Amino acid sequence: MLTRRTLTRSLTTVALAFLALPFASGGCTKKSDEIPVGAFLSLSGSDSTFGTDTRDGIELAVDETNAAGGIKGKKVKVLYEDDKSTTQEASQKVRQLIDRDKVVAILGEVASSRSLAGGLIANTSHVPMVTPSSTAVEVTQGREWVFRTCFTDDKQGQVAARFVRNELKKSRVGVFYAAQDTYSSGLAKSFRDEFRKLGGEVVVDKGYQKGETNFTTYLNELKGASPEVVFVPNYYNEMVQIARQAKQVGLAGSMFVGGDGWDSANLIEGAGAELEGAYFTNHYAPDVPWPNSKKFLAAFKTRYKREPSSLSAQGYDATKLLFDAMTRASEVAPDAIRKALVETKDFQGATGTMSMDKDRNANKPIVVVKIKDKKFTYASQVMAE
Ligand code: PHE
Repeated sequence: MLTRRTLTRSLTTVALAFLALPFASGGCTKKSDEIPVGAFLSLSGSDSTFGTDTRDGIELAVDETNAAGGIKGKKVKVLYEDDKSTTQEASQKVRQLIDRDKVVAILGEVASSRSLAGGLIANTSHVPMVTPSSTAVEVTQGREWVFRTCFTDDKQGQVAARFVRNELKKSRVGVFYAAQDTYSSGLAKSFRDEFRKLGGEVVVDKGYQKGETNFTTYLNELKGASPEVVFVPNYYNEMVQIARQAKQVGLAGSMFVGGDGWDSANLIEGAGAELEGAYFTNHYAPDVPWPNSKKFLAAFKTRYKREPSSLSAQGYDATKLLFDAMTRASEVAPDAIRKALVETKDFQGATGTMSMDKDRNANKPIVVVKIKDKKFTYASQVMAE
Protein backbone atom coordinates (compact mmCIF):
# COMPACT_ATOMS: atom_id res chain seq x y z
CA MET A 1 0.00 0.00 0.00
CA LEU A 2 1.18 3.49 -0.72
CA THR A 3 1.48 5.45 2.52
CA ARG A 4 1.60 9.20 2.59
CA ARG A 5 5.25 9.04 3.59
CA THR A 6 6.37 6.83 0.73
CA LEU A 7 4.32 8.91 -1.66
CA THR A 8 6.03 12.10 -0.50
CA ARG A 9 9.38 10.41 -0.74
CA SER A 10 8.80 9.16 -4.25
CA LEU A 11 7.52 12.55 -5.37
CA THR A 12 10.64 14.17 -3.96
CA THR A 13 12.80 11.67 -5.81
CA VAL A 14 10.98 12.39 -9.07
CA ALA A 15 11.32 16.14 -8.54
CA LEU A 16 15.03 15.83 -7.81
CA ALA A 17 15.52 13.66 -10.86
CA PHE A 18 13.88 16.34 -13.01
CA LEU A 19 16.00 19.07 -11.52
CA ALA A 20 19.15 17.07 -12.11
CA LEU A 21 18.21 16.06 -15.63
CA PRO A 22 19.45 19.02 -17.65
CA PHE A 23 22.89 18.84 -16.06
CA ALA A 24 23.17 15.06 -16.02
CA SER A 25 22.22 14.62 -19.66
CA GLY A 26 23.98 17.75 -20.87
CA GLY A 27 20.65 19.52 -21.60
CA CYS A 28 22.40 22.77 -22.41
CA THR A 29 24.77 21.38 -24.99
CA LYS A 30 21.93 19.45 -26.56
CA LYS A 31 20.17 22.69 -27.47
CA SER A 32 23.10 24.11 -29.36
CA ASP A 33 23.21 20.96 -31.47
CA GLU A 34 20.09 22.20 -33.20
CA ILE A 35 20.10 25.00 -35.73
CA PRO A 36 17.59 27.68 -34.67
CA VAL A 37 15.39 29.10 -37.45
CA GLY A 38 12.59 31.55 -36.62
CA ALA A 39 9.08 31.73 -38.05
CA PHE A 40 6.67 34.62 -37.45
CA LEU A 41 3.10 33.94 -38.51
CA SER A 42 -0.53 34.92 -37.93
CA LEU A 43 -1.36 31.87 -35.80
CA SER A 44 -4.30 33.74 -34.27
CA GLY A 45 -6.35 36.84 -35.10
CA SER A 46 -8.18 37.80 -38.28
CA ASP A 47 -5.99 35.87 -40.75
CA SER A 48 -5.26 32.84 -38.58
CA THR A 49 -5.64 30.20 -41.30
CA PHE A 50 -2.79 31.89 -43.21
CA GLY A 51 -0.50 31.23 -40.25
CA THR A 52 -1.67 27.78 -39.23
CA ASP A 53 -1.73 26.45 -42.82
CA THR A 54 1.78 27.80 -43.41
CA ARG A 55 3.02 26.20 -40.19
CA ASP A 56 1.68 22.81 -41.33
CA GLY A 57 3.75 23.09 -44.51
CA ILE A 58 6.86 24.19 -42.61
CA GLU A 59 6.55 21.29 -40.14
CA LEU A 60 6.34 18.74 -42.91
CA ALA A 61 9.49 20.17 -44.52
CA VAL A 62 11.38 20.27 -41.19
CA ASP A 63 10.53 16.67 -40.35
CA GLU A 64 11.56 15.46 -43.80
CA THR A 65 14.88 17.31 -43.60
CA ASN A 66 15.64 16.14 -40.07
CA ALA A 67 14.71 12.55 -40.89
CA ALA A 68 17.16 12.70 -43.79
CA GLY A 69 20.02 13.77 -41.47
CA GLY A 70 19.39 17.50 -41.04
CA ILE A 71 21.74 20.21 -42.30
CA LYS A 72 25.49 19.69 -42.12
CA GLY A 73 24.90 16.93 -39.58
CA LYS A 74 22.68 19.02 -37.30
CA LYS A 75 18.95 18.96 -36.76
CA VAL A 76 16.96 22.12 -37.49
CA LYS A 77 14.57 23.56 -34.94
CA VAL A 78 11.94 26.07 -36.05
CA LEU A 79 10.82 28.47 -33.32
CA TYR A 80 7.31 29.78 -34.01
CA GLU A 81 6.05 33.18 -32.95
CA ASP A 82 2.41 34.29 -33.26
CA ASP A 83 2.02 37.90 -34.36
CA LYS A 84 -1.77 37.73 -33.86
CA SER A 85 -2.34 39.15 -37.38
CA THR A 86 -0.94 42.59 -36.44
CA THR A 87 2.01 44.53 -37.86
CA GLN A 88 3.14 45.75 -34.44
CA GLU A 89 3.48 42.22 -33.06
CA ALA A 90 5.18 41.17 -36.29
CA SER A 91 8.04 43.64 -35.67
CA GLN A 92 8.33 42.65 -32.02
CA LYS A 93 8.38 38.94 -32.73
CA VAL A 94 11.10 39.28 -35.35
CA ARG A 95 13.16 41.34 -32.93
CA GLN A 96 12.74 38.62 -30.26
CA LEU A 97 13.70 35.83 -32.61
CA ILE A 98 16.89 37.68 -33.54
CA ASP A 99 17.95 39.12 -30.17
CA ARG A 100 16.74 36.45 -27.77
CA ASP A 101 16.78 33.25 -29.82
CA LYS A 102 19.72 34.07 -32.11
CA VAL A 103 18.07 32.51 -35.14
CA VAL A 104 20.22 32.16 -38.26
CA ALA A 105 17.31 32.83 -40.65
CA ILE A 106 13.61 33.69 -40.55
CA LEU A 107 10.52 32.39 -42.31
CA GLY A 108 7.40 34.57 -42.62
CA GLU A 109 5.02 36.28 -42.99
CA VAL A 110 2.05 35.68 -45.26
CA ALA A 111 0.36 39.11 -45.36
CA SER A 112 2.52 41.69 -47.11
CA SER A 113 1.88 44.39 -44.49
CA ARG A 114 3.39 42.17 -41.79
CA SER A 115 6.29 41.01 -43.95
CA LEU A 116 7.08 44.67 -44.54
CA ALA A 117 7.11 45.34 -40.78
CA GLY A 118 9.11 42.23 -39.83
CA GLY A 119 11.35 42.52 -42.88
CA LEU A 120 12.55 45.95 -41.80
CA ILE A 121 13.93 44.45 -38.58
CA ALA A 122 15.47 41.41 -40.32
CA ASN A 123 17.08 43.66 -42.92
CA THR A 124 18.63 46.11 -40.49
CA SER A 125 19.77 43.22 -38.23
CA HIS A 126 21.34 41.40 -41.20
CA VAL A 127 19.45 38.13 -40.74
CA PRO A 128 18.03 36.58 -43.94
CA MET A 129 14.25 36.36 -44.14
CA VAL A 130 12.26 34.31 -46.62
CA THR A 131 8.57 35.05 -47.05
CA PRO A 132 6.62 32.20 -48.61
CA SER A 133 3.60 34.19 -49.76
CA SER A 134 3.88 37.98 -49.48
CA THR A 135 3.36 39.31 -52.97
CA ALA A 136 3.38 43.13 -52.62
CA VAL A 137 6.27 44.55 -54.63
CA GLU A 138 7.66 46.65 -51.72
CA VAL A 139 8.35 43.62 -49.49
CA THR A 140 11.78 42.86 -50.96
CA GLN A 141 12.49 46.22 -52.60
CA GLY A 142 15.83 47.66 -51.49
CA ARG A 143 16.12 45.03 -48.77
CA GLU A 144 19.16 42.88 -49.41
CA TRP A 145 18.25 40.43 -46.63
CA VAL A 146 14.63 39.80 -47.62
CA PHE A 147 13.70 37.09 -50.14
CA ARG A 148 10.46 35.58 -51.34
CA THR A 149 9.50 32.27 -52.92
CA CYS A 150 6.45 33.62 -54.72
CA PHE A 151 5.56 35.92 -57.60
CA THR A 152 4.86 39.64 -57.10
CA ASP A 153 1.60 41.58 -57.40
CA ASP A 154 2.62 43.57 -60.47
CA LYS A 155 2.60 40.17 -62.22
CA GLN A 156 -0.42 38.80 -60.40
CA GLY A 157 -2.54 41.85 -61.30
CA GLN A 158 -1.39 41.66 -64.90
CA VAL A 159 -2.35 37.99 -65.18
CA ALA A 160 -5.76 38.60 -63.56
CA ALA A 161 -6.49 41.48 -65.95
CA ARG A 162 -5.48 39.43 -68.98
CA PHE A 163 -7.60 36.54 -67.81
CA VAL A 164 -10.68 38.74 -67.44
CA ARG A 165 -10.11 40.57 -70.73
CA ASN A 166 -8.84 37.75 -72.97
CA GLU A 167 -10.27 34.56 -71.49
CA LEU A 168 -13.55 35.73 -69.98
CA LYS A 169 -13.77 38.34 -72.76
CA LYS A 170 -15.16 41.08 -70.52
CA SER A 171 -14.70 44.79 -71.16
CA ARG A 172 -16.47 46.52 -68.22
CA VAL A 173 -15.14 45.82 -64.74
CA GLY A 174 -15.51 47.09 -61.20
CA VAL A 175 -12.64 47.14 -58.69
CA PHE A 176 -13.35 46.78 -54.95
CA TYR A 177 -10.45 46.68 -52.48
CA ALA A 178 -9.21 47.36 -48.92
CA ALA A 179 -7.92 50.93 -49.25
CA GLN A 180 -5.21 51.03 -46.56
CA ASP A 181 -3.89 47.54 -47.06
CA THR A 182 -0.57 47.31 -48.94
CA TYR A 183 -1.46 44.05 -50.65
CA SER A 184 -5.03 44.87 -51.60
CA SER A 185 -4.41 48.38 -52.92
CA GLY A 186 -1.23 47.36 -54.78
CA LEU A 187 -2.91 44.46 -56.51
CA ALA A 188 -5.94 46.60 -57.39
CA LYS A 189 -3.60 49.12 -59.03
CA SER A 190 -1.72 46.65 -61.17
CA PHE A 191 -5.00 45.04 -62.29
CA ARG A 192 -6.52 48.41 -63.21
CA ASP A 193 -3.43 49.55 -65.15
CA GLU A 194 -3.24 46.39 -67.20
CA PHE A 195 -6.99 46.17 -67.84
CA ARG A 196 -7.01 49.69 -69.26
CA LYS A 197 -3.96 48.91 -71.38
CA LEU A 198 -5.92 46.05 -72.89
CA GLY A 199 -8.68 48.43 -73.91
CA GLY A 200 -11.07 47.57 -71.08
CA GLU A 201 -12.96 50.06 -68.93
CA VAL A 202 -13.08 50.35 -65.14
CA VAL A 203 -16.68 51.48 -64.64
CA VAL A 204 -16.64 51.60 -60.83
CA ASP A 205 -13.73 51.75 -58.39
CA LYS A 206 -14.27 51.59 -54.62
CA GLY A 207 -11.95 51.30 -51.64
CA TYR A 208 -13.38 50.16 -48.29
CA GLN A 209 -11.72 50.57 -44.90
CA LYS A 210 -10.10 47.51 -43.40
CA GLY A 211 -12.22 46.16 -40.57
CA GLU A 212 -15.57 47.18 -42.09
CA THR A 213 -18.21 44.47 -41.90
CA ASN A 214 -21.22 45.99 -43.65
CA PHE A 215 -20.56 46.31 -47.37
CA THR A 216 -24.15 46.77 -48.58
CA THR A 217 -23.82 50.43 -49.57
CA TYR A 218 -20.69 49.73 -51.63
CA LEU A 219 -22.27 46.68 -53.21
CA ASN A 220 -25.32 48.64 -54.29
CA GLU A 221 -23.04 51.24 -55.87
CA LEU A 222 -21.14 48.51 -57.68
CA LYS A 223 -24.39 47.03 -58.91
CA GLY A 224 -25.58 50.44 -60.12
CA ALA A 225 -22.61 50.73 -62.49
CA SER A 226 -23.46 47.32 -64.02
CA PRO A 227 -19.93 45.89 -64.44
CA GLU A 228 -19.55 42.45 -66.02
CA VAL A 229 -16.90 41.40 -63.50
CA VAL A 230 -15.81 42.80 -60.13
CA PHE A 231 -12.16 42.34 -59.15
CA VAL A 232 -11.81 42.03 -55.35
CA PRO A 233 -8.18 41.54 -54.27
CA ASN A 234 -8.67 41.07 -50.52
CA TYR A 235 -8.33 38.38 -47.82
CA TYR A 236 -10.75 35.50 -47.31
CA ASN A 237 -12.32 36.74 -44.06
CA GLU A 238 -13.64 39.95 -45.66
CA MET A 239 -14.52 38.14 -48.87
CA VAL A 240 -16.88 35.80 -47.01
CA GLN A 241 -18.90 38.80 -45.78
CA ILE A 242 -18.81 40.50 -49.18
CA ALA A 243 -19.97 37.37 -51.03
CA ARG A 244 -22.87 36.81 -48.64
CA GLN A 245 -24.00 40.42 -48.79
CA ALA A 246 -23.56 40.53 -52.58
CA LYS A 247 -26.07 37.74 -52.88
CA GLN A 248 -28.56 39.73 -50.84
CA VAL A 249 -28.24 42.79 -53.09
CA GLY A 250 -28.58 40.59 -56.16
CA LEU A 251 -25.00 40.40 -57.48
CA ALA A 252 -24.07 36.94 -58.79
CA GLY A 253 -21.09 35.34 -57.03
CA SER A 254 -19.71 34.09 -60.34
CA MET A 255 -18.99 37.69 -61.42
CA PHE A 256 -16.25 38.07 -58.79
CA VAL A 257 -12.56 37.56 -59.52
CA GLY A 258 -9.96 37.64 -56.72
CA GLY A 259 -6.29 37.18 -55.93
CA ASP A 260 -4.29 34.75 -53.78
CA GLY A 261 -5.69 36.29 -50.57
CA TRP A 262 -8.86 34.26 -51.09
CA ASP A 263 -7.01 31.02 -50.41
CA SER A 264 -8.53 29.51 -47.27
CA ALA A 265 -10.81 26.61 -46.40
CA ASN A 266 -12.80 29.25 -44.52
CA LEU A 267 -13.75 30.90 -47.82
CA ILE A 268 -15.36 27.68 -49.00
CA GLU A 269 -17.00 27.03 -45.63
CA GLY A 270 -18.30 30.57 -45.28
CA ALA A 271 -19.26 31.43 -48.86
CA GLY A 272 -18.46 28.46 -51.14
CA ALA A 273 -22.03 28.32 -52.43
CA GLU A 274 -22.26 32.09 -52.97
CA LEU A 275 -18.99 32.11 -54.93
CA GLU A 276 -19.76 29.16 -57.19
CA GLY A 277 -18.16 29.82 -60.58
CA ALA A 278 -15.83 32.61 -59.35
CA TYR A 279 -12.12 32.65 -60.27
CA PHE A 280 -8.97 33.80 -58.49
CA THR A 281 -5.24 33.83 -59.18
CA ASN A 282 -3.07 31.74 -56.88
CA HIS A 283 0.22 29.93 -56.32
CA TYR A 284 -1.07 26.40 -56.25
CA ALA A 285 -4.10 24.09 -56.27
CA PRO A 286 -4.06 20.44 -55.20
CA ASP A 287 -4.64 19.34 -58.80
CA VAL A 288 -1.85 21.39 -60.47
CA PRO A 289 -0.16 19.21 -63.09
CA TRP A 290 3.47 19.58 -61.88
CA PRO A 291 5.47 16.43 -60.97
CA ASN A 292 6.83 17.76 -57.65
CA SER A 293 3.40 18.80 -56.50
CA LYS A 294 2.18 15.21 -56.56
CA LYS A 295 4.86 14.04 -54.12
CA PHE A 296 4.08 16.91 -51.76
CA LEU A 297 0.33 16.33 -52.05
CA ALA A 298 0.71 12.66 -51.10
CA ALA A 299 2.99 13.41 -48.12
CA PHE A 300 0.70 16.19 -46.87
CA LYS A 301 -2.42 14.06 -47.15
CA THR A 302 -0.83 11.15 -45.31
CA ARG A 303 0.17 13.40 -42.45
CA TYR A 304 -2.79 15.77 -42.11
CA LYS A 305 -5.66 13.74 -43.66
CA ARG A 306 -6.77 16.66 -45.83
CA GLU A 307 -5.73 18.49 -48.97
CA PRO A 308 -3.16 21.27 -48.58
CA SER A 309 -3.98 24.90 -49.23
CA SER A 310 -1.72 27.10 -51.30
CA LEU A 311 -0.35 28.48 -48.02
CA SER A 312 0.79 25.04 -46.85
CA ALA A 313 2.44 24.33 -50.19
CA GLN A 314 4.17 27.73 -50.08
CA GLY A 315 5.29 27.23 -46.48
CA TYR A 316 6.75 23.86 -47.42
CA ASP A 317 8.59 25.28 -50.44
CA ALA A 318 10.00 28.33 -48.63
CA THR A 319 11.37 26.06 -45.90
CA LYS A 320 12.89 23.54 -48.29
CA LEU A 321 14.43 26.31 -50.38
CA LEU A 322 15.92 27.94 -47.28
CA PHE A 323 17.29 24.58 -46.07
CA ASP A 324 18.78 23.98 -49.51
CA ALA A 325 20.59 27.32 -49.24
CA MET A 326 21.75 26.50 -45.70
CA THR A 327 23.16 23.20 -46.95
CA ARG A 328 25.04 24.93 -49.76
CA ALA A 329 26.24 27.81 -47.55
CA SER A 330 29.93 27.81 -46.51
CA GLU A 331 28.73 27.87 -42.88
CA VAL A 332 25.39 27.98 -41.09
CA ALA A 333 25.53 31.71 -40.34
CA PRO A 334 23.34 34.61 -41.58
CA ASP A 335 25.79 36.11 -44.06
CA ALA A 336 26.72 32.81 -45.71
CA ILE A 337 23.06 31.78 -45.88
CA ARG A 338 22.17 35.08 -47.56
CA LYS A 339 24.84 34.51 -50.20
CA ALA A 340 23.56 30.99 -50.90
CA LEU A 341 19.97 32.27 -51.17
CA VAL A 342 21.07 34.81 -53.79
CA GLU A 343 22.53 31.95 -55.84
CA THR A 344 19.37 29.79 -55.79
CA LYS A 345 18.71 28.46 -59.27
CA ASP A 346 16.07 26.04 -60.59
CA PHE A 347 14.95 24.84 -57.19
CA GLN A 348 12.21 22.26 -57.74
CA GLY A 349 9.29 22.98 -55.43
CA ALA A 350 5.72 21.80 -54.98
CA THR A 351 4.57 25.19 -56.31
CA GLY A 352 6.86 25.23 -59.34
CA THR A 353 10.52 25.70 -60.20
CA MET A 354 12.17 28.70 -58.58
CA SER A 355 15.21 30.86 -59.26
CA MET A 356 15.97 34.02 -57.30
CA ASP A 357 16.04 37.05 -59.56
CA LYS A 358 18.24 40.07 -58.85
CA ASP A 359 15.51 41.60 -56.66
CA ARG A 360 15.24 38.42 -54.55
CA ASN A 361 11.87 37.39 -55.98
CA ALA A 362 11.00 34.00 -57.44
CA ASN A 363 9.54 34.15 -60.91
CA LYS A 364 6.93 31.43 -60.99
CA PRO A 365 3.83 30.37 -62.89
CA ILE A 366 0.55 31.89 -61.72
CA VAL A 367 -2.37 29.53 -61.39
CA VAL A 368 -5.99 30.46 -62.11
CA VAL A 369 -8.32 28.63 -59.73
CA LYS A 370 -12.06 28.16 -60.20
CA ILE A 371 -14.49 27.67 -57.32
CA LYS A 372 -16.50 24.66 -58.41
CA ASP A 373 -18.80 22.49 -56.29
CA LYS A 374 -17.36 24.11 -53.15
CA LYS A 375 -13.80 23.19 -54.13
CA PHE A 376 -10.75 25.04 -55.46
CA THR A 377 -10.02 23.51 -58.85
CA TYR A 378 -7.12 24.23 -61.17
CA ALA A 379 -8.28 26.08 -64.29
CA SER A 380 -5.06 27.17 -66.04
CA GLN A 381 -1.52 28.46 -65.47
CA VAL A 382 0.19 31.53 -66.86
CA MET A 383 3.84 32.51 -66.75
CA ALA A 384 3.93 36.25 -66.16
CA GLU A 385 6.31 38.32 -68.27
N1 PHE B 1 -0.19 37.46 -51.17
C1 PHE B 1 -0.86 37.86 -49.97
C2 PHE B 1 -0.13 39.11 -49.44
O1 PHE B 1 0.90 39.42 -49.89
C3 PHE B 1 -0.88 36.78 -48.93
C4 PHE B 1 -1.44 35.47 -49.34
C5 PHE B 1 -0.71 34.58 -50.12
C6 PHE B 1 -2.68 35.08 -48.94
C7 PHE B 1 -1.23 33.36 -50.52
C8 PHE B 1 -3.20 33.86 -49.31
C9 PHE B 1 -2.49 33.01 -50.14
O2 PHE B 1 -0.57 39.79 -48.58
